[in-house]
Amino acid sequence: MGASLLRSPAFLGVICSFINLCLLAEPALGVTRHYKFDIKLQNVTRLCNTKSIISVNGKFPGPRIVAREGDQLLIKVMNHVQNNISIHWHGIRQLRSGWADGPAYITQCPIQTGQSYVYNFTIVGQRGTLWWHAHLSWLRSTLYGPIIILPKRGIPYPFTKPYKEVPIIFGEWFKADPETIISQALQTGGGPNVSDAYTINGLPGPLYNCSAKDTFKLKVKPGKTYLLRLINAALNDELFFSIANHTLTVVEADAIYVKPFETETLLIAPGQTTNVLLKTKPHYPSATFFMKARPYVTGQGTFDNSTVAGILEYEKPLNFHLSSNSIKNLPLFKPVLPALNDTSFATSFTNKLRSLASTQFPANVPQNVDRRFFFTVGLGTSPCQSNQTCQGPNGTMFQASVNNISFVMPTTALLQAHFTGKSDGVYTPDFPTSPLIAFNYTGTPPNNTMVSNGTKLVVLPFNSSVELIMQDTSILGAESHPLHLHGFNFFVVGQGFGNFDPNKDPTKFNLVDPVERNTVGVPSGGWVAIRFLADNPGVWFMHCHLEVHTSWGLKMAWIVLDGKHPNQKLPPPPADLPQC
Ligand code: C2O
Repeated sequence: MGASLLRSPAFLGVICSFINLCLLAEPALGVTRHYKFDIKLQNVTRLCNTKSIISVNGKFPGPRIVAREGDQLLIKVMNHVQNNISIHWHGIRQLRSGWADGPAYITQCPIQTGQSYVYNFTIVGQRGTLWWHAHLSWLRSTLYGPIIILPKRGIPYPFTKPYKEVPIIFGEWFKADPETIISQALQTGGGPNVSDAYTINGLPGPLYNCSAKDTFKLKVKPGKTYLLRLINAALNDELFFSIANHTLTVVEADAIYVKPFETETLLIAPGQTTNVLLKTKPHYPSATFFMKARPYVTGQGTFDNSTVAGILEYEKPLNFHLSSNSIKNLPLFKPVLPALNDTSFATSFTNKLRSLASTQFPANVPQNVDRRFFFTVGLGTSPCQSNQTCQGPNGTMFQASVNNISFVMPTTALLQAHFTGKSDGVYTPDFPTSPLIAFNYTGTPPNNTMVSNGTKLVVLPFNSSVELIMQDTSILGAESHPLHLHGFNFFVVGQGFGNFDPNKDPTKFNLVDPVERNTVGVPSGGWVAIRFLADNPGVWFMHCHLEVHTSWGLKMAWIVLDGKHPNQKLPPPPADLPQC
């Protein structure tokens, strides 16, 4: 109620005419920003090879969205390609604007060829780095870009004001067509082919063939502070990242400020964003520095074992006499990254992430729990069709599941089915709160690795506080799973290895300053505990952000019912909502 009054111009007018509060009151007023996304084909050359990719406005990576907290965004997405398209604004809370969230067949049917849809949402209570990406099959391999949310005008960052801000978005490049790769894998039941390169801002860098000219260069001045907005848009790989001879200060994760801490190396999972401060050397160092990213690998399958490099280059002072005159002859320093499977680094890094939990940026951790859930996440199998040969484990087909249910995508949007009360034949509201059969989740795998299938959802009353334990399984080998929840931020109140112990582990939960985010890694062979308040009516997707696991069914959805008051209800869909 108070918030809607504050946003009413008439109310502000009253304040302004009485006292000199206009400047104070003005930041609460957002502006409306318009963007146009034309989805079209674009030729791009990487790794000595030119191919046609699906792009936004012919750009790769796609355009930046820049807005302030409180702004309304109107983004018209026009589909000029043969594929169906849908765009998701990853990490945007979409308070009562669930129709604009974007996952295909969850909140909307996809935008068909020649059609358009205007995504209409307001950024409430968020500032920092997020990103947008396609949310249908593997189309996000080339359809992604940064979302930069600045604080309201006049509100400073809770850290050193940066001299410059630079988005750094990691991606994965495939020489082949990613849509062909995943559709073949889903037919044969085997693991999909892996990428051919990692990229920084779309560029693979000098460690790959033909790519020295396609290198991201960060040109800096000495003695300044730069804000790097890191985004992991890779399809299937968590990444380590480091810049040689430079320490980074982590200040934000998933568009939430954190208690600053210093680190040489970061871990960032697909779906996650991290803001870091880079303080450059006080004087021209007469050297250049590699920044590198390569994967953190816990699974058993094949992976892209290559490294992307970019270059940190200092501007040469005007009066500086370089004997060789060329930057090429400067010494080049290279960072040392953790071993590919360095889980102890992963654990100690994630344990350092803490909410700021200040008066201005409190950590509103639910202290009481209304609904408890225990979900297993991991891989499994399904039988091979009798007349086929399959390439999954022991001639089966790979699947992935939550509570052993591999999610079946509906052919119409769940949110529409829910909103119109026509759920029959689309979904059932009976997703189990815990596995139907308990077993030693991280011990010797059971003989039967088969999953079941269904389009099952959890239904939550408005404003219920939820605790969810996500437990990795070792059914086909333990593996880290970055789980992403749409529509909410959650607090990561605990994590550990082995099986979650409901008697001992909760006593160690951090309910004071746990990190708040939208994507969390379920530790390989371990568990993570999250809490959130279901204050946003709609249908909210939750899935592993390793795209191959999502394709295999590691996904489910929550329905949050309307509250009693008009401002606790999901409004009706916009007139241009795409139909199936
Ligand atoms: Cu970043 Cu459901 O997505």
